[in-house]
Amino acid sequence: MTNKTAYITTPIYYPSGDPHIGSAYTSVAADIYSRFKRLDGYDTKFLTGTDEHGLKLQRAAEAKNMPTQEFVDELSAKFRELTPIMNLSNDDFIRTTQTRHIKTATKFWNKLQENGYIYKDTYAGWYSVSDETYYTEDELVDGKSPDSGHDVEWLEEESYYFKLSEFQEKLLAYYDENPDFIQPKSRFNEVYSFVKNGLRDLSISRSTFSWGVPVPNDDKHIMYVWIDALTNYLSGINWADDDKTEFDKYWPAIHIVGKDILKFHAIYWPAMLMAADIELPKKIIAHGWWTVEGEKMSKSKGNAIHPKTLTNEYGCDQLRYFLMREISFGNDGDFNKDRFISRINSELANDLGNLFQRVLTMIYKNCDAKIPHLAELSSQDKEFLSQVNVLEKLRKEIDNLEFHNGLNTIWHVIGEANRYMDTMQPWKLKNEPEKMAHVLRVLAECLAYLSIQLEPFMPESAKKMQTAISLQFNNFNGLEVKGEVLVEGTTIPKPQGIFPRIEKKEEAA
Ligand code: MSP
Repeated sequence: MTNKTAYITTPIYYPSGDPHIGSAYTSVAADIYSRFKRLDGYDTKFLTGTDEHGLKLQRAAEAKNMPTQEFVDELSAKFRELTPIMNLSNDDFIRTTQTRHIKTATKFWNKLQENGYIYKDTYAGWYSVSDETYYTEDELVDGKSPDSGHDVEWLEEESYYFKLSEFQEKLLAYYDENPDFIQPKSRFNEVYSFVKNGLRDLSISRSTFSWGVPVPNDDKHIMYVWIDALTNYLSGINWADDDKTEFDKYWPAIHIVGKDILKFHAIYWPAMLMAADIELPKKIIAHGWWTVEGEKMSKSKGNAIHPKTLTNEYGCDQLRYFLMREISFGNDGDFNKDRFISRINSELANDLGNLFQRVLTMIYKNCDAKIPHLAELSSQDKEFLSQVNVLEKLRKEIDNLEFHNGLNTIWHVIGEANRYMDTMQPWKLKNEPEKMAHVLRVLAECLAYLSIQLEPFMPESAKKMQTAISLQFNNFNGLEVKGEVLVEGTTIPKPQGIFPRIEKKEEAA
């Protein structure tokens, strides 16, 4: 049994349309984090799912003339399919229409009420159905939602309130004591000044429609969809059960969210957790938004790219790689097909794929298809090999959710390996077979390390690399590798390319 645990979550997606590369992005980031932690010896829980209540979904179902549950069942399944499409390793998939979740949301509400943080009043204000968010008159921009630019409608109804205003000082004190709680720093500052400007109590129930979790002991009201949704992070680890083993083991979580929903996660959620006497999350990381060929993805433009379109054509690891390498986690980025293809060709097919294929082909042809002998290391070999184990650096980068830096670190090793190969020129050592064998073995050791360290990022390709190089799994533990990892004399299979180039004609098409 390990006592190292990790709990990582994605936002739960509104199943109001198909998933797109924005949804795939968060899920891949959470997947890399959890694969890394699992391989690094942590008992890890990775939760994703769908957010199925609220007016937006009720109206979307009505527009299709479908019972709401049937509608969300159909669309939620499309998000569940992201798991095989993006090769996600999520341990669970939570849906807010599941009994286990309704039980959690109800218990959470009761806890807030018992602790004296809920009261009833009348709500009057602007509501954006698209954002499922309330705004005051002065928050509107040109009469529209300040977050999304969508229409708002006037609402007047009896509502339950959460005493958010009581948490201003407590939140600020918490942020002061935990400066890494919200990342990146620029987002932390935004949240901090928002809270500093004052918090109003939050309307947390609705009575004009019925698609939601009923408020306990009041049939006229359903819970505000965000209260319902945020508690999914507790439903996934059985907080509401008598047996709290999972909760005790995994909580607190790390939440990965898009920048647009940071306010809910970094202000409302921590305040509600404080009110319910539950420990706050470890960290909340906000990432940026993807545009496609310079434009915002939207239904009306029809330019949202389904991840399946890209994985079918270019490969799942190729997309995982691009999404993580193209932009620093936290920044916005643009999905540009030419750049995608060019990264596949230059970084995957050339830098890594070619190196791998050349070394293995030389071993196959010149060393009788067996892992060659490692002679005494020269200072040059030592200098090169001292750089191939980047685990410590990767650990820090993954803990900070700097996936782009993690890949840069690995690609630095690939660059060094290519330089070592160019300097040693093993193909010119046909007359010195022992020296050739040694150089190839040094390179093969580096490739073995790479195949291990790349696994969280590109699991399928890394596994192919490990098989191709006949990696000896009993020579290392998870990501922890020391010294030689290959075994002299082990036969390798006939090398086959792992990262195909995208041909120019396909590029043109
Ligand atoms: N249901 C809420 C989340 C509740 S979590 C308790 C929600 N759902 S959403 O489907 O609208 O968005 C889910 C996530 O996808 C958000 O983190 C959002 O930022 C992210 N993205 C949506 N479009 C995106 C891009 N174009 N690019 C990157 N991420 C994007 O909000």
